[in-house]
Amino acid sequence: MNDPFDIRDILRGTGGRPGDLIGILQTVQDRFGHVPAAVLPSLARHLRLSPGEIYGVLSFYPRFSLRPPARHVIEVCLGTACHVRGGESVAREIGRALAINPGQTTPGGEFDLKTVNCLGCCAIGPVLRVDGRIEARVTPARARDLVLELQAGERKA
Ligand code: FES
Repeated sequence: MNDPFDIRDILRGTGGRPGDLIGILQTVQDRFGHVPAAVLPSLARHLRLSPGEIYGVLSFYPRFSLRPPARHVIEVCLGTACHVRGGESVAREIGRALAINPGQTTPGGEFDLKTVNCLGCCAIGPVLRVDGRIEARVTPARARDLVLELQAGERKA
């Protein structure tokens, strides 16, 4: 059986040098949905970096996560265009509905709530990305309905 954390397989096509670390971590994240801790020792050995150096990069970039994503991931855009159209109210309403703050996960791992700076579709803001799907012109009321739909399983991930 293949080792899912086979470092040679992971590094294939990445350059495999210490200067490629961010790209390598992105490759790992894309493959597993997060950066599994089990990858780090062999990655550090192969790149001749300390685990602390790798952890420093992982913790600097919010896009990397050491744990698997929640079942539903809600990202609220708070870039300038979305912010001026009410993105903060949308984020607040979702936080209220889930009883968590941005950057947190609901107990049980059902929802991750994140904020992002721009999703590249400013003209249709305020924008959410829910499980990878863009929701346009979201109002606080619509945001609450989305959460209720996800909680009721009425909306497919
Ligand atoms: S600012 Fe929200 S999509 Fe650009």
